[in-house]
Amino acid sequence: MNVLLLGSGGREHALAWKIAQSPLLNRLYIAPGNAGTGSAGTNLDLDILNFEQIRKIVIEKQIDLIVPGPEEPLVKGIYDFFSKDRALGGISVLGPSGQGAMLEGSKDFAKAFMSRHGIPTAKYQSFEKTTVNDGLNFLRSLKPPFVLKADGLAAGKGVVIENSLQAAEACLTDMLLNEKFGQASRKVVIEEFLSGIELSVFVLTDGNDYVLLPEAKDYKRVGEGDTGLNTGGMGAVSPVPFATKLFMEKIKAQIIAPTLDGLRNEKLDYRGFIFFGLINCDGNPKVIEYNVRMGDPETEVVMPRIKSDILPLLLAAAKGELKQARIEIDERPAITVMLVSGGYPEKYAKGKQIAGLDRIQDSLVLHAGTKADSGKIVTNGGRVLAVTSLKNSLEEARAASYNSISKIDFENKYFRKDIGLDVM
Ligand code: AMP
Ligand code: GLY
Repeated sequence: MNVLLLGSGGREHALAWKIAQSPLLNRLYIAPGNAGTGSAGTNLDLDILNFEQIRKIVIEKQIDLIVPGPEEPLVKGIYDFFSKDRALGGISVLGPSGQGAMLEGSKDFAKAFMSRHGIPTAKYQSFEKTTVNDGLNFLRSLKPPFVLKADGLAAGKGVVIENSLQAAEACLTDMLLNEKFGQASRKVVIEEFLSGIELSVFVLTDGNDYVLLPEAKDYKRVGEGDTGLNTGGMGAVSPVPFATKLFMEKIKAQIIAPTLDGLRNEKLDYRGFIFFGLINCDGNPKVIEYNVRMGDPETEVVMPRIKSDILPLLLAAAKGELKQARIEIDERPAITVMLVSGGYPEKYAKGKQIAGLDRIQDSLVLHAGTKADSGKIVTNGGRVLAVTSLKNSLEEARAASYNSISKIDFENKYFRKDIGLDVM
């Protein structure tokens, strides 16, 4: 079969690397992809939000399955676009309908969904321009820190946590009255601050049944010891030691099952990944957020731990046939360390030549922001490479990734040196 994977980050390279190993695969296309995905399949220069353009490629390349990596095409309705297209009868899109994708596309929708289905999460209220004064009063009734979330997609920047009431009030006003995050902050969710360690849990579902993928822990802050600015993720580990059998059972019973029941009861068509961003509050899991896609850089440790062929699972999820599916997971731990461009997540340079990739033997180097440029590979984003290692112990995996990193070079290369230390 022929697969079209949408996206261009480390997550997509990890997915492409895994899909490319399937004996069921005929051709794999990645749009737009990066220098790494180009070695797992064929990159296509496509706008992933231009569904008409994608449709032409689907016909031309005889695509059987579309796998959207990021959330945007899903929230914009790529599933609905193709499912309505009778002329393309056989094509499957692995992902939720636009309505289902609201779990990520609207924080207010997600919170109301959780509240309807008794899913543990932080207490909240939502406000709009016309209710800004109620919002300010609500803030004054809370204890710091204050958590404010733009309702819509804001390129991962829509969550603000403020320690002072004054700053929180200013932020709320800015979001609602000055559209600080554009359309995304026309509505704002204010919620209770939860403290605990975060955990990323993933399922692949066909709307009825699901398979549980390996869980992971992401390192979001740019600096060692979880300091500095928030990033897309500086590294990840899997498995996560505090995700014990008991804790995972609670997650299944209190979060995964009611979420799937809720989707079914509300007739939300959902076939694809659900990423539960969870927090461990004194041994009890609570949902921080839903995502309708895999995590990045979590996918870079999740895919290497899946032993089963991924393609039949993706296909079964898209076709509603997951009931009989089984997934085999590698017991061994995986770690990934992100190499980023100095300055990220703020201003950074692009186009820097990357050296040493041919010297790596002990790790899997997954490309994020890279591109091929007249025979060379150059940096093309803030997060550049994810250096993943799968070994018998986390100590060995860590050592392998950091050893590989010492062989890779580009101007202003930066990485965190403490990935995985906290869970060892
Ligand atoms: P997001 O940008 O949606 O991934 O959220 C950013 C981060 O904000 C999350 O990963 C958490 O670390 C933090 N966060 C979001 N909601 C809460 C909350 N209610 N309490 C504490 N931290 C939160
Ligand atoms: N690593 C967090 C995310 O993908 O949203």
